[in-house]
Amino acid sequence: MKYERFLNSPVFKRFVRRRLFDRESVFSRMLLAWFSARSMGRRLPATPEGVRDSELFNQWWYYSFELAPGVMTSSSFPVDFPLLPRMLMRNADLTGCDCLDIGSVEGLMPILMCRQGAREVIATNPHLYNYEKMQAVRKLFRVNFKFRQIGSLYDVSRKVGNKAFDLINLSGVLYHVYSPMHVIAGLRPLLKKNGLMIVSTNVVRRPDFSMEFNDRGKLQREATTYWYPSIPLYDYLLRYFKLLPIDCLYHPYARDDSTRFTADFESGYLSVVCRATEEPSFESSDTWAPESITDSYESILLWDQAKESAQPASAIGYGHAPGAHLMHEGGRSLDLWKAVNELPPVGVAGTPQDTHALLLSDRA
Ligand SMILES: C[S@@+](CC[C@H](N)C(=O)[O-])C[C@H]1O[C@@H](n2cnc3c(N)ncnc32)[C@H](O)[C@@H]1O
Repeated sequence: MKYERFLNSPVFKRFVRRRLFDRESVFSRMLLAWFSARSMGRRLPATPEGVRDSELFNQWWYYSFELAPGVMTSSSFPVDFPLLPRMLMRNADLTGCDCLDIGSVEGLMPILMCRQGAREVIATNPHLYNYEKMQAVRKLFRVNFKFRQIGSLYDVSRKVGNKAFDLINLSGVLYHVYSPMHVIAGLRPLLKKNGLMIVSTNVVRRPDFSMEFNDRGKLQREATTYWYPSIPLYDYLLRYFKLLPIDCLYHPYARDDSTRFTADFESGYLSVVCRATEEPSFESSDTWAPESITDSYESILLWDQAKESAQPASAIGYGHAPGAHLMHEGGRSLDLWKAVNELPPVGVAGTPQDTHALLLSDRA
């Protein structure tokens, strides 16, 4: 039919994308979902050979997905590169939980949240570039999650409606933004009391309180990478936002990692599971942090602590504790500097289930 040819034409699709880019409207989502469902219906052939030849399979992929038995897409990562938040998230009991994933790309983490028993899962991206792939894998892996296009990572609590989550995954994004604190401030009010947030980012391994800037691409050539906090600063910032580190995994960047390794800075990827607390946890001599949390203009303007205080409680369980000797004085939270120095690092991944690849049979 004539109108169908027009609706499917690249010119019309480009027009729709341009016009609706960065808009949160139900119309944009419905229209794209419709396009997507139609094109995916056409693009998913019934045989593995057909899948291998399909447009879907031959696109750029961030994660590697098994689209048909034995048919894995390419990925941006080496096959044995560990995905630390995935390894940590399997210690959380997600049964009946509400989960939010920030910067989902094609949706590996949202699929796993669903498969681990979550009740409602929301995936997010700043744009719609990966939307069709996300819809395709959602269908293939037979899970149901929602999607929100959030634009910038700032002020997310104003962008996802009146929601509260048991678990939020904030991984692989803090180094991409001008202001990492602004991002955490905007998300923290969405976490239920006692809920869990997995926060993962690049760090420099040194014992001070500082943040290294990626001037001249000295830490990574990648153009959207800005900040690597030192490990004690990362720990302090999490506790500033009333997030108590309770578990972590560290992947040191290896000399043969030509994308991330830099000889001048000992650096790596640190993924931390945090428990939401109502009372911040600082040494008793630190009177600055509590005052800053309450009275600074940034806290007042960017961190909706009234919304945070009104959130319901979560009963989400977490089944791993790294050891009392690794805790800060007082025993409420993990000392990340001690943990990184005393726990075995994660080098290459031992199984595909610890990587950026998702097999059709994977549950976690
Ligand atoms: C490195 S990927 C991380 C993917 C996933 N969260 C993980 O840990 O495997 C970065 C994600 O953040 C999004 N992103 C990067 N820079 C951003 C920015 N400045 N504002 C909003 N989103 C951004 C990307 O589109 C992508 O979804």
